[in-house]
Order: sequence, then structure tokens, then C-alpha cells
Amino acid sequence: MYHQLSQDKADFAALLDQVHLYNQAFIDQIDQKSPHIALAQLPYAPLNSEGIGAQATLAQFEDRFRPYVQASGGSRYFGFVIGGSTPASLMGDFMTSTFDQTNSSIQDIVEKEAVQNLRELFQLPATFQGNFVTGATMANFSGLATARQWIGQQMGVSIAEEGLGKRSPIKILSAKPHSSIFKSLAMLGLGKHHLQKVASIASREAIDIDALEEQLKQNKSQPCIVVASAGTVNTGDFDDLEAIGRLKQRYSFWLHIDGAFGGFAACSPLLSHYWQGSEHADSITIDAHKWLNVPYDAAVIFTQHQAIQREVFSNNAVYLDTDPSHINFMDLTPENSRRWRGLPVWFTLKAYGHKGYQEIVERNHHHAQQLSAKIQADQRFELLAPARLNVVCFTLKNDTSEPVTQKQIKSFLHHLASTGEVFLSPTVYDGVPAIRAAFSNWRTQEADVLQAWEVLKVTYDQTQAKPTISQ
Ligand SMILES: Cc1ncc(COP(=O)(O)O)c(C=O)c1O
Repeated sequence: MYHQLSQDKADFAALLDQVHLYNQAFIDQIDQKSPHIALAQLPYAPLNSEGIGAQATLAQFEDRFRPYVQASGGSRYFGFVIGGSTPASLMGDFMTSTFDQTNSSIQDIVEKEAVQNLRELFQLPATFQGNFVTGATMANFSGLATARQWIGQQMGVSIAEEGLGKRSPIKILSAKPHSSIFKSLAMLGLGKHHLQKVASIASREAIDIDALEEQLKQNKSQPCIVVASAGTVNTGDFDDLEAIGRLKQRYSFWLHIDGAFGGFAACSPLLSHYWQGSEHADSITIDAHKWLNVPYDAAVIFTQHQAIQREVFSNNAVYLDTDPSHINFMDLTPENSRRWRGLPVWFTLKAYGHKGYQEIVERNHHHAQQLSAKIQADQRFELLAPARLNVVCFTLKNDTSEPVTQKQIKSFLHHLASTGEVFLSPTVYDGVPAIRAAFSNWRTQEADVLQAWEVLKVTYDQTQAKPTISQ
């Protein structure tokens, strides 16, 4: 054995102790550290041909990179929809790396229990079966891949076997799909241009059901795919899933729900009405590394059509020696090998249960409402949409009558992030350059919202005096 390896093997316990202390120090400081650190570059170190051993490598990391590790899993990171890691999920995640296995029987059993527990959390019927993938993008990809196969089946062809060929394009209807839907269409050869935008209800991001029905009528010659949003990324708005489900009685389409974070509305009786009708879906995306607060990366694709899903993803190779009577995840998702991704999910679900997630979701929802109320009552900001779930979408008011520009928003957010106290992300809502604050971290408390609000006001006052803002 190479001498550095045998030395590290001998020192394994001491090295792990060091990493434990290192992790502990990071976690102890997470709410004091900057939630966002932007860096252009750092000096490059070439490969060392001898290697320096694990101890010196840790010291090098500590020295060169650790000061720049952002605390985006902390309590005041409100950009995108991130979430953090609950204590139990982090325990599971550490063990996933330690166990380092794929496709083992015990992995399969534990992951199936975790998926079933999630199905209970999301109040989905037992006809839904789920599998772990890396994130909501891959869950959307897997749902749409299964939809593509189903549409082929309606036309008497297996697209998995024969490809799309010269058949007329498959139509996808959606009002406000997440960008990952377009990416999935590109990867699946369905083509981004074949997504037909459906109008939204006035002043909402939710789909206009009459407009959807009209487009379904026009596309009646061939089954199509409807992508519904349960939690739009800009405002956390929901399509009316019940009404879309009713349309399935008259039109032939596959319903895919992107509930990456919005599906968590199911955890709370205050919010679960948004999730009503989800049982009509053929496939559903749920992200675990968002509101479930497990470490990156994990999501689940649920479908009611496992046999069709298997036609797309089945992996036949004699060398793998798999039992044909046993459905392995490698026959249901894009990856053949993957880490024991469900273990952190299993840990957190067992540790905190339904009640724990209800509390997190309701607390974060309350935070979004609190910040909205403050924004609404202040002359400097303008709320652009009600905070239905956990996202606050707002913009800056200029002291002139000029509309705010994207440059101003960027400059404001740059100044805000440079305080090291809070991070929010930009967007454009209904043509208006805007800011989003998304609440999805289990650590966030009311004091964090109040701190963020103070920093928002101070940053506004400071940047208004700067040329980039007042121009
Ligand atoms: C609604 C929605 N769908 C899909 C995604 C993509 O998620 P991921 O980054 O986990 O692939 C996101 C991410 O923010 C999202 O909000």
C-alpha cells in the first residue's frame, strides 16, 4: 500500500476526530457566518505527485479555502429555495458517505421506507411509487421521460425502443414552468419550443383553467403533457390541481406536477388546500434538499405508472446479475449507481415526523407573511404578490417616478449581500425587476426576519444615495 495511504489508515480514527471538530466549529458558527460569499478566483495549486497525506490536506484546505465557505445552510439565506440540514439528516448523510455503497439490499429497504413515509407526509394515495434522484431537475426529467413513453404508448409505439423518429412533436402545456422543465425538454429531445405557454389568471402565476381547456381542445388530435406548478419560484403560487384533474376526464393528457417545494403545503392544514387535487397527477416532483432540509442532493420522483417508468429506465446488463423479479432503482431512474441518498431523508423523517415538518413549514410561512407586511407598510418597497406560501416577491421604489431597473436591483442586492448578514436573490416578475426572499430553513427564527428587515432598510437608504441607484 502506498505509504501515505497506509499512514492515513493507521491514523483513521484521529483524522475522523479532527473532521468532527472541524464540522462542529462550522455548525456552531453557521448563523454568524456570511450566508453568501462571491469569489472570482483563488490561486491554483498543481497536483502534488507524492501527495501530502490527509492531515496536511486538511490543513491546506483550512488555510486556502475554508475562510470562503459560505453559510448558505444558515438561518438568513433567503435566496432561491435552499433549506438547510436538520441534525438528524446530517447524521444520516455522514453515514451515507461512511457506508459508501450502491444497490445493496439494505439501501433498497431503507429507501423504500423513506419514500413511503414521504408519501404519507404528502398525503398521496398508495398508487404512487417514488424513487430518489439528485434534485428536482432530475425528478422533472424523469417524470417527463415517463410521460413521453406514455404518449408513445397511446400512439402504439415505444419511444424508448424506437425513438421519436419523424412523429409529430409532443405538446407540453404549462403557465409558469420552472426553468428545469425547459432543460428537461431539451435533454429529452422533446424540444423547448414545443412547450405552449398557457395564460395565467390576472395578477397571478396560476394557470387560467379556461385557457388551458381551450388549448387542450386545440391539441385534441394527440395526447399531450400538462406541467402544473405547485409553488412557482417567483411567488410560490399554485395551479388549481383539482380543476386540472377534472379536465383529465375529458382530455387525454399526462399531468406532471412540479411540487419541488410547494408540495410541502401538504404538511400543514393551514396550507394543504393548495395541494388538493395532487392525487390526479401521473407524476410528481418533490425536492428533499429544499424544504425537507436534508443536505444536497436529494429529490423524489413519484409516479402512478411504474411499469411505464421502467420501460424508459430499465438497464439490462448481464454483468450486473440482477434479480429480474426485483425492481431495482437503477431500472427506474437515470442513474445506475448512486449513493445511499435516501438515508438522510429516512433519518430526518423518523426524527421529526409529520408534526416537525408542519412546524417548520408553518413557521417559514409565517416569516414570509411577516416580511410581506413590513414591505407593504414601507414607502421604500413594493410588494408584488401576496406571500401565499414561503416566497416574498417585492421591488424597490424609486424616489423619482422612473420604474426600477435590473441594474438597480442587482446593485441593491450586491450591497445587501456584502453586509454578510442576509442573502436574497433577484428575479423579474411580470416584467418588473424584482427581489425574492424565500423561507425554507429549519433554523430561521423571527429574530432573523427582523434582522433581515433592518438590513434591507439600511441598505436601501445607503444605496439610494449612490449613483447606480439614483440614475
Ligand atoms: C419549482 C422548482 N422546480 C425545480 C427546481 C430545480 O431544483 P433542483 O435545483 O433541485 O434541480 C426548483 C429549484 O429551485 C424549483 O423551485
